[in-house]
Parts: sequence; structure tokens; C-alpha cells
Amino acid sequence: MRKPLVAGNWKMHTDSSQAQDLASSIVSRVSSVTDVEVVLCPPFVWLERVAKLVEETGILVGAQDTFWEDWGAYTGEISPLQLSEMCSYVIVGHSERRHIIGETDEIVARKARAVARAGMVPILAVGELEQEYKEGISKEIVSNQLSAVLADGWDHEIVIAYEPVWAIGTGLAASAQYAQDMAAFIREQLSSYGLNQERVRILYGGSVNRGNFKEFIEQKDIDGALVGGASLKAEEFAELVMMAS
Ligand code: G3P
Repeated sequence: MRKPLVAGNWKMHTDSSQAQDLASSIVSRVSSVTDVEVVLCPPFVWLERVAKLVEETGILVGAQDTFWEDWGAYTGEISPLQLSEMCSYVIVGHSERRHIIGETDEIVARKARAVARAGMVPILAVGELEQEYKEGISKEIVSNQLSAVLADGWDHEIVIAYEPVWAIGTGLAASAQYAQDMAAFIREQLSSYGLNQERVRILYGGSVNRGNFKEFIEQKDIDGALVGGASLKAEEFAELVMMAS
């Protein structure tokens, strides 16, 4: 049995007091839920504060990104080893980093390996652009994104977040059936790289909200969600956690 996972990606939102209020409000609503893993991914600058707030609640903290080297002269970057003092998870390969910042599959792979080396679990985000979806090449795109990380061998825990780019922040979520088909495809691919496909959690991300999440979480191969906008509203985020419970 895979434990459901609901992760909130706060992206570049929240000032210090909003971050504090949001985390406290989430803690008060979901800390009694023990059968769902809840992960909060605030901006780097609030990680330590949020980590303190969730201490001993069972809620975990994740980072939204990392650098791939452990230490060195890399001005402005943040080491996975620094993150490992407060984080259990790190999102790598989010579409905003791939398509706005220009991260390549190779960079994403280096980051994923660095996260695992530092003892954390990468949440590897994969997904096709709208044009690629229209061209019917979603599986090819996702397969290449997975291969970049897994083809050289992978023997650590990993979580895959399938996020079709056209569904992110648009209010137009994929259909549950489409997300399930993609998740099943991803699961198959995992076993071709020697991973125990039954153990790896696959999340759906892209306009998840209280109105549509139930359908996603009911799908056989979807084990939770990577939530953007709805994770900034404590009440709605807590509802998503309850639905996964
Ligand atoms: O990482 C989560 C994400 O990109 C989805 O964002 O706002 O569509 O839930 P949103």
C-alpha cells in the first residue's frame, strides 16, 4: 500500500507573516491526520520558520528547488546539504524551472541525484507543454524526462509528480482519466528502469482544487497531489488532505 501524499507548492508567494499564518493554520487543521503524508514547500527564506512550526506534528517540509553541488563558490545557490537540515523532500524539474528558468533534463537529473545523495527524497516533476499535448506526444516527452533521471540507475526513494504544463495555474485541470492514463504509463516506465513500480508514489498536479481532487485520488495509479494555488488556502488544502485520507 502506498501512503497518499499531498504536497503544497507555495511557489514565490507569502511574506513572512503570511507564511507563518498559513503554516499554523494548516497544522491546526491536519496534524491529526496520520494516514496521509503532508508536505509544505514554502519559499527558501521561510523554510526554517515553517520547519519549526511543523516540528513534531508529522507534517514535513520540502524545498522547491536546490543546486546540484554540495558546497562551493556558487553565489546565490543553495546546497542540498543545507536543505537537508530542515527538509525531507525537494521538488526538482518543476515546469516553471524548466520553461521559465531554462533548466534542461540534464540539470534536473543532477539536482535529483544531489537531493538523494543528501538523504532527501526528490519530487520529480514531469509533464508536457500544451503544444506537445496537442501533437499527441505527451508520453514521449514524459518518457524522456524520466529517462534523464533514471536511465543511469536509481536506487533511492523518489516521488513522481505528473503535471501537464497546460493545466498548471490555468484552472483547467486534466481529466481524471487522462491523468490516470499518464500515471499508469509512468508506472510502467519506472519498472523498465528497475524501480519497484508498486512502491513509487505518483502525484497529479495542475489546477487541483476541492472540486476535482476526489476524482484524481480515486484513480488507481494516482497517490496524491502536488498543489499550487489551492495550497495557499489553509481550509481548502486541509480539505484535500482529508480527501486523501
Ligand atoms: O507544483 C504545483 C503546480 O505547478 C500546480 O499549480 O496552481 O495549478 O495547482 P496549480
